[in-house]
Amino acid sequence: MKLIQYKKYIAAILALGIIYACEPTKETSSQKDSQVLELMSKMSVEQKVGQMTQITLGKFHEDGELKVDLLREAIIDKNVGSILNTNGSPLTVTQWHELLTAIQDIATKETELKIPILYGIDAIHGTSYTKGSTLFPHNIGMAAARNTELVSQSAKVTANEVRASGIRWNFDPTLGIGRQPLWSRFEETFGEDVYLTSTLGGSAIKAYEEDGLTNITAVASCMKHFIGYSTPQSGKDRTPAYIPDIQLREYYLPPFEAAVANGTSTVMINSGEVNGVPVHASKYYLQDILRGELGFEGLAVSDWEDIIRLHIRHQVASTPKEAVKLAVNAGIDMSMVPLDYSFYNYLIELVNEGKVSQERLDEAVYRILKLKFDLGLFDNAYPEEAAIPNFGKAEYAEVALNAALESITLLKNEDNILPLSKNAKVLLTGPGANNIGALHGSWSYTWQGDAEAAYNEGTLTLKDAMIEKIGASNVITNAVSDYNDATNTSTAFVKNNASKADVIVLAIGEKAYAESPGGIDDLTMDENQLLLVEAAVATGKPVVLLLAQGRPRVISSIEPGVKGVLNLYRPASQGAIATMEILFGDYNPNGRLPFTYPKNTGDIVLYDRKHSENYKESEPDTYGLGGFSPQWAFGHGLSYTTFSYSDLKLDQTTINANGTINATVTVSNSGDRDGKVAVELYVTDLYASVTPGEKRLKKFKKVEIKSGTSIQVDFQLAVADLSFINQNSERVTEEGEFTLMIGDQQENFFYKK
Ligand code: BGC
Repeated sequence: MKLIQYKKYIAAILALGIIYACEPTKETSSQKDSQVLELMSKMSVEQKVGQMTQITLGKFHEDGELKVDLLREAIIDKNVGSILNTNGSPLTVTQWHELLTAIQDIATKETELKIPILYGIDAIHGTSYTKGSTLFPHNIGMAAARNTELVSQSAKVTANEVRASGIRWNFDPTLGIGRQPLWSRFEETFGEDVYLTSTLGGSAIKAYEEDGLTNITAVASCMKHFIGYSTPQSGKDRTPAYIPDIQLREYYLPPFEAAVANGTSTVMINSGEVNGVPVHASKYYLQDILRGELGFEGLAVSDWEDIIRLHIRHQVASTPKEAVKLAVNAGIDMSMVPLDYSFYNYLIELVNEGKVSQERLDEAVYRILKLKFDLGLFDNAYPEEAAIPNFGKAEYAEVALNAALESITLLKNEDNILPLSKNAKVLLTGPGANNIGALHGSWSYTWQGDAEAAYNEGTLTLKDAMIEKIGASNVITNAVSDYNDATNTSTAFVKNNASKADVIVLAIGEKAYAESPGGIDDLTMDENQLLLVEAAVATGKPVVLLLAQGRPRVISSIEPGVKGVLNLYRPASQGAIATMEILFGDYNPNGRLPFTYPKNTGDIVLYDRKHSENYKESEPDTYGLGGFSPQWAFGHGLSYTTFSYSDLKLDQTTINANGTINATVTVSNSGDRDGKVAVELYVTDLYASVTPGEKRLKKFKKVEIKSGTSIQVDFQLAVADLSFINQNSERVTEEGEFTLMIGDQQENFFYKK
């Protein structure tokens, strides 16, 4: 080794020694770590900064063609280490392989250090950007399914299909909890509950990574968006959130803790600000909490353009260069720049000027290279031929179908209008009736998910699936593909044709949208859709609503007139088929709302509300209990059979520190159909130093029960399950009395240290 190189090597080891001292990595003393160090010892500042630079494919991919000169500029001249995204349209597996081969050819053959490119993609409900992939219900639906196994199976399929596409890094899962229904990314969340989000998010991460990152069945996951992104005060995407520490730790942090515990490799940072500080510039969130408290050792990537936005949007940096300094010093390891080389140029200057330390640079680059080694990219950077057979397997459709079936939630079934007879004449209309995008939502072959032509051939709309199910002669419909076409909300059509129908089925809700373009100013369902429902109700025929939507749009003005409501969420590729299975009784619905469905736009009170929120003083000095008055509560979901609960038993009435309590309950299917049910265990802390919630979900289990039979369901609760964040921001369990509830059963017990 030349002297100069040796000096660099020692400097790197010394610098990194500091990191290891406080943040031991999983494989501190392993061969791989020394490989990373050895490589780093050979790297110039420019090469290191290049590794921290992530550029979008669109920079060198135009009209479906790779601009090799621009790619060379990125990888060779600017030392770029990571690329992301598609250029607007999905590619086939073969096209992905060709593209990634071209990219890795340049990186591993034409650069001095031959460092492979780390390619990242948003495969957030299936492999969004590969033609022919399988798309699963968005997280909001997966949360309704209350089935960790389904989350895990879906994530495994996604890992296989992403990897088969030649990509090894998936920007998923979203772990922000959905407590602000106006937010346009609500569908990406697992709903409003922290336990549900932690459990399901953890399952997804485990499934993505557990086979080992070198395996062709795994991908690196990315917990996102750290932290507080999902709860903008105004409801508008990427606008300020105000989250007191006590709430942050009670609701927003646990899913990320669970993600770290489940081994996630990377984190993406929240584009917004929390309590007045953009998270991309916050040492408190990025160092003290993420690294210090959560002990996270992986790579932290910025979100899209969010470093430069510290200057142009957030205005905490007076220049773009200051923005780079703030973000990198706060703890960002990789910048999703992604449209130019400004980050690269500024960071080189900042390091040379001593404004960003060599140590900080090395810390970031170490994490990036470590992930590249862990993913096996240094052994083989190219798309793996052996992974191709794992793409598009026939059985994936079944996983997607099961997920859709278990997620769809029966919200209302007056007079048992559902299931419908297959001989019924159905008038089907509404904007969602013949539109594929509305069933899929965001990140579905295109970013917005609204390009009908981009969907896989053979994907059914509700109209197609209904005709398949009951025959064209039984379906009276005018529904056209264009969501916004006035034909779909024609009240005249409904009036003129209602007499031919036994029932009117209206597919309403929201067209596909993603991120900020999905912003709304009113949670109320669009007026033209409400008018359509009113017209249908006025015909006197029974009306059933199919809600294909990413968030709960308020329908209280028309709900009393309709007989049945199915919430589909974004059920994706098998969604239309699943809907018809349920509508016509071939499948017994078992989804449960993962959020509180509001009745009024100004009345967003969540299920785990504080007791004071139950009260309402409509008249002076008359406190009633009308404070919590949703359209449908969290956990609501009907079935075609009836389940009853009995014999709740706790194995002890007092639980001690380190102790556990076992609860058993009998669940009976007293109706005449077999069915699945998500059994949920809630706990209420009766008195505590911080106002306790009305109730909190602590466990759930999906079980299947044959008609006329009963089963016993067991849960085990630990002291930690009774904990909360106290006024000093510490997690504690206080002594006292608790109520445990399953269905309509409840028992009290005590915790005594
Ligand atoms: C989104 C991220 C996504 C990234 C890359 C951003 O706009 O906020 O969730 O991973 O784009 O596509």
